[in-house]
Amino acid sequence: MDERLSPLEEQEHSLDPDDWAAFRARAHSMLDAALDHAEGVRDGAVWTPMPEDVKAALAEPVPMDAQGTDKVCEDLLARVLPYATGNTHPRFLGWVHGAGTPGGIIADTMAAAMNSNLGGRDHGAIYVERQVISWVKKLFDFPHTSSGLVVSGTSIATLIALTAARYAKAGYDVRRQGVRPEKGRLVGYTSSEAHSCIARTFDMLGLGLDALRSVPVDDVYRMDIVALRQAIRDDLEAGHRPFCVVGSPATVNTGAVDDLDAISRICQEHDLWFHVDGAFGAVAALSETLKPRFKGLERADSIALDFHKWMHVTYDAGIVLIRREDIHREAFTLRREYLTAAPRGLAAGNPWFCEYGPELSRGFRALKVWFHLKEHGIRRIAEKVEDNCRQAAYLGELVKARPELELSTPVSLNICCFRFAAPDLTDTALNLINEEIVIDLQESGVAAPSTTRLNGRLAIRVNITNHRSTMADFDLLVDEVVKLGRALVERV
Ligand SMILES: Cc1ncc(COP(=O)(O)O)c(C=O)c1O
Repeated sequence: MDERLSPLEEQEHSLDPDDWAAFRARAHSMLDAALDHAEGVRDGAVWTPMPEDVKAALAEPVPMDAQGTDKVCEDLLARVLPYATGNTHPRFLGWVHGAGTPGGIIADTMAAAMNSNLGGRDHGAIYVERQVISWVKKLFDFPHTSSGLVVSGTSIATLIALTAARYAKAGYDVRRQGVRPEKGRLVGYTSSEAHSCIARTFDMLGLGLDALRSVPVDDVYRMDIVALRQAIRDDLEAGHRPFCVVGSPATVNTGAVDDLDAISRICQEHDLWFHVDGAFGAVAALSETLKPRFKGLERADSIALDFHKWMHVTYDAGIVLIRREDIHREAFTLRREYLTAAPRGLAAGNPWFCEYGPELSRGFRALKVWFHLKEHGIRRIAEKVEDNCRQAAYLGELVKARPELELSTPVSLNICCFRFAAPDLTDTALNLINEEIVIDLQESGVAAPSTTRLNGRLAIRVNITNHRSTMADFDLLVDEVVKLGRALVERV
């Protein structure tokens, strides 16, 4: 601290750097470290487990006294940066993670510099988010009168969408009265392959997990439409109150594409809210080639989707779109006097985003989305989606060509599930072997697929939402799986 400051001045000294020149130099070197990390991503291991001594070093006491920018930067470089999830690497092929782009480093830096709160008011960040929402509405053929909100991801987008659905379809003032089962239990439908965020939403909304009916799937994991009709009929006969159906343009396990057109027609017939869990699947509809497979998507009452998955915006960013703006706002708005809008000045800008979701304080996620979409353009992002689908099909062919490998289900979109299979081994033994193969691949840093179970059998699940993957990465993956599988069989 500056020795010439009086005690009062010292007390009032802000948290800004004392030496801006030194801070600037440090910030520049950190930016270089971030860019080195991004540029060299293919050269390193996909995943580096955090060593025990690094974990121990992180477990410090609460920092009551200042350590200073330099020390924290050194800690960050040594103890945090090297141990990322790995999804920026071309052979990260597990779960459903996007790969991000270096542009995100610029956008996130600027968002931090602006430190905007997008709960409401009238400032530039609000207009950026409105622009992003407006673009997404256009991309998914939603009317310009619809509404939306940029959120952390599809889980929260689903919570917002189904809160609006509950409000719209309850038949009584569910916001004031809460859920009233005596008026008919509110029930909804999704396939047994749907993502767990839908069930979790039913739980959080007080509807109960059992109120989400699990509709069986066909032999390629798509919602069985006949079974959906029957489930609705059964519930109506039992005096329940069906209120929504959730369709998946791509299921998380296998990339199965539900018949959204048929689901939307059933929703229309029964006056049900049609929600689409478009986390990554909806993004495939940005490709003109793939779009016909998602007919009906444009008739949804709400769509949840992620920017951070197949669009590669850096984590975290998703969006919810809701066809009826009035319902969306009425389902959430609760503004007290301290949040009153003014006709002019900073408190203008009505309606405020806090009226469309549970959060009042909201960061400037929209900036990185705005930056990314302008930087790369939708056409290029859609081309990368098509590349990934071609790569999944290619991997499927590689699997079929190897006698020791078998496809667990036909490749759909960007997901290929397969397993190493040796004659004379039981499914239990093969489950263990395939699980071991995946762990070995991850621990060696060569590749990071994940696993799932299909018909009770463990499958190596390769999800390709990665703009850096090339065909050669899949040649290498298959070679490694076979090599590891053979070695494991020898040890059985
Ligand atoms: C189909 C599907 N829905 C929902 C989600 C949840 O999305 P998020 O992790 O962004 O909350 C996922 C995540 O992988 C998903 O694949």
